[in-house]
This record gives sequence, C-alpha cells and structure tokens, in this order.
Amino acid sequence: MNNFTFHNPTTLYFGQDQLSQLTKEVPKYGKNVLLVYGGGSIKQNGIYDRVLRLLDEVGATLVELSGVEPNPRLTTVHKGVDLCRGHQIDLILAVGGGSVIDCAKAIAVGAKYDGDFWDIVTRKAAATGALPLGTVLTIAATGSEMNSGSVITNWETKEKLGWGSPYAFPKFSILDPVHTQSLPANQTVYGMVDIMSHVFEQYFHHGENTPVQDGFCETILRTVIDTAPKLVANLEDYDARATILYCGTMALNGVLSMGIRGDWATHNLEHAVSAVHDIPHGGGLAILFPNWMTYTLDAHVARFKQFAVRVFGIEESGKSDRQIAEEGIAALRQFFTSIGAPSRLADYDIDDSTIETMADKAMVYGDFGNFKKLTREDVVNIYRMSL
Ligand code: NZQ
Ligand code: ZN
Repeated sequence: MNNFTFHNPTTLYFGQDQLSQLTKEVPKYGKNVLLVYGGGSIKQNGIYDRVLRLLDEVGATLVELSGVEPNPRLTTVHKGVDLCRGHQIDLILAVGGGSVIDCAKAIAVGAKYDGDFWDIVTRKAAATGALPLGTVLTIAATGSEMNSGSVITNWETKEKLGWGSPYAFPKFSILDPVHTQSLPANQTVYGMVDIMSHVFEQYFHHGENTPVQDGFCETILRTVIDTAPKLVANLEDYDARATILYCGTMALNGVLSMGIRGDWATHNLEHAVSAVHDIPHGGGLAILFPNWMTYTLDAHVARFKQFAVRVFGIEESGKSDRQIAEEGIAALRQFFTSIGAPSRLADYDIDDSTIETMADKAMVYGDFGNFKKLTREDVVNIYRMSL
C-alpha cells in the first residue's frame, strides 16, 4: 500500500427530498446564482420547476445557461464564464449529469482565470481559484458530483481532455434517486458501465497489500452486476436507483484510490474516440474495456484471476490461472451485452478509417497507463480489436 493523503470537501446530501437542502446551502454564498443545465431533461421531469421554486424561496437572482452538450464543449464554458463576469455570480448551480457538472466546474474555475480556460485544460496554466459550485445530480455515472475532475471537448481541434483542480470540488451535491428515475434505458446502462469502469481503472494496479481497497472495488462491482438487471427491467425501481447512485459516487470520489495508483488508460482511449466521434462515454467504455483487459492480461494474470473469481464467481478447479482470468473477461463481455451495452465500435458506425486520428488524440501526452504502459502501437491494436 502506498502512502496517501485524502481530502474531500464536498458535502453530500443523499436521499429522497434532499433537494430542499438548497434553501440552506444557496444563501451561504450570495444572491446571484448561475443555473447551468443541459438539453432540457430537467424541464421534462419537473426538477427545473422544483429548483426554481426553492431558489425563489431564498430570494436568489437567477441567470441561466442551458444547452450544455453531452461531452460538454469549450464554447459553452466560454459562454458561462462571460455570464459569471457580466452578472457578478456568487454561486454556480449545476443541475444535470456529469456533462453539466463538468462544464460548471470549468466555468467556476474559468471565471477566476484571466486567460483562456483552455490553457488550464492543456496544462499551460494552473487554476487560480473558483467560484463556489453546487450540484443537483440527475444521472449516476461519472462521480463528478464528489470529485475535482472534469472533461471538456474542444470541438474545433477535436480534443477531449480531462483536467482537475482542488478548486473544482463542488461545495455541496444533492443526490435524490428519484431524480434519476426518468433516465432512459440507454443512459442508465451507460452510467452503470462508467461506474464499473471507474472501479476497473483503480482495481487493476500492481500494488501489494491492498485487501481493503480490493474489497471495496469488488463489492461495488458485484453490486452493480446484481442490481443492473433489476434496474433495466424496471427503470423506476427506487431501491435499485439508490444503490446505483451510491455506487457511482463511491466509485470516483477518491476513496478507491487510497494507497494505490490507478491505471486510467481505457478512459484516455475512450476520450479520444469521443473526441472524434462524439459518442456517449459509457458506450465507448463498454466496447473498449473488455478489449483492454484481453490485451493487458499478461501484465498481471493473478489480478485478472482474482477479478474473475471474486467478482464473477468463476469456478477455479482444473483450470490454469490464465484460463480463469479469460473466463472473467468473457463474463464481463456477456454481462455488458446482457444489459444492452454496445460491444463494437461498428455499433457507432466507426470503422478503421479514423483509427490513426483517434490514436493521435490518445497520444497527446505520450505513452500512458500505469498498469500497462500503452504505446501508439498498443493503442492502434486495441482500437482494431474493438472494431
Ligand atoms: O442534456 P440533458 O437534457 O440533461 O440530457 C442528458 C444527456 O442527454 C440525459 N439525462 C441526464 N439526466 C437525466 C437525463 N435524461 C432523463 N432524465 C434524467 N434524469 O442524459 C444524457 C447524458 O448526460 P451526461 O451528463 O452527458 O452523462 P454523464 O453523467 O455520463 O456524463 C458524461 C460526461 O462526463 C465525462 C464524460 O467524458 C462525458 O463527457 N466524465 C467525467 C468524469 C468526471 N468529471 O469525473 C469522469 C468520467 O470518467 C467521464 O469521463
Ligand atoms: Zn468514466
């Protein structure tokens, strides 16, 4: 186990009717609120009206930024930064999924930075501060509600890059499982794949003596695997929604990374696919992760065997470690297919014509991945396996 420091300042309000906490939280920061949301789902499911009523109760003055794209774009961040400066915004309130929250984080940090926010994403400059940010989460997936990361797409240059800063932690996040009940089946599935992928990124490492970390990861994975079929069968199942929502936050709020060094290669591979083809993040991960596993299996067969046995209950007797490990990966493929996740890049009409472009995007900071360092050749191979 490595040495570590853990700090997570986000206050989490979890459960039914926790939205009313807005009346306690918002006045702490001031009157002028920038409400950031996406393409309109919050208007259809009634969350928008409820938020507005609560903001009205505390006398907030509202400025709105709507239309944040899934895979949020730099141009939208710029709009938000201008609104913050023009209206002396005191608090940014993001109501939506990871895209809305990531965009709001970028706006919060961008509003306190004199240059172009893209400098911070591309590591040319460091964040210098942030406006306070609160979130009302409507999809279990990214963990953005309780972490300091964000992913922004520059559509002009076709780059989708992650960035992070301690300033970007939300001050508070409100998670009501009811808010996720209106999610359609495909987004629900993408979210669950993303949650599992975050666990994979932190489970596949070369550290030793990590029994608690392993157990946390395996519990979350088994829980998603048990819960997903129930949720897909009944999208309004409150208990299943609550379980998955909790899994999503715990998978990427820093807890699983204590004392280990995560891999994160597959996320980099996926971001490059999304940068070029604008596909849903979870859909891309469902395709890429099993292929990354097959490709990197020999980097640590024992770890894949442990995954197979403890997560999927693969029978061990009479089999080699490698065979057990391979059966675990096959079980994951089958599980993804069983809940309706895509399995090939062809499912998004992606063929080999853009592999080199995607590889260029993935290699922007050179070789990557801590479990197995991927070179450009590896990247191309994994994309080819995923066609
Ligand atoms: O735009 P609206 O109308 O809100 O619709 C959204 C969107 O179309 C819809 N939706 C969300 N909540 C809903 C709903 N529809 C009905 N009912 C609800 N309750 O779902 C669609 C997808 O939303 P989005 O926010 O894009 O999904 P997600 O939370 O999966 O976020 C994906 C983005 O987060 C990044 C991804 O790369 C991608 O850009 N990530 C962010 C991370 C982080 N900050 O830590 C880590 C992740 O690994 C990931 O990379
Ligand atoms: Zn992810």
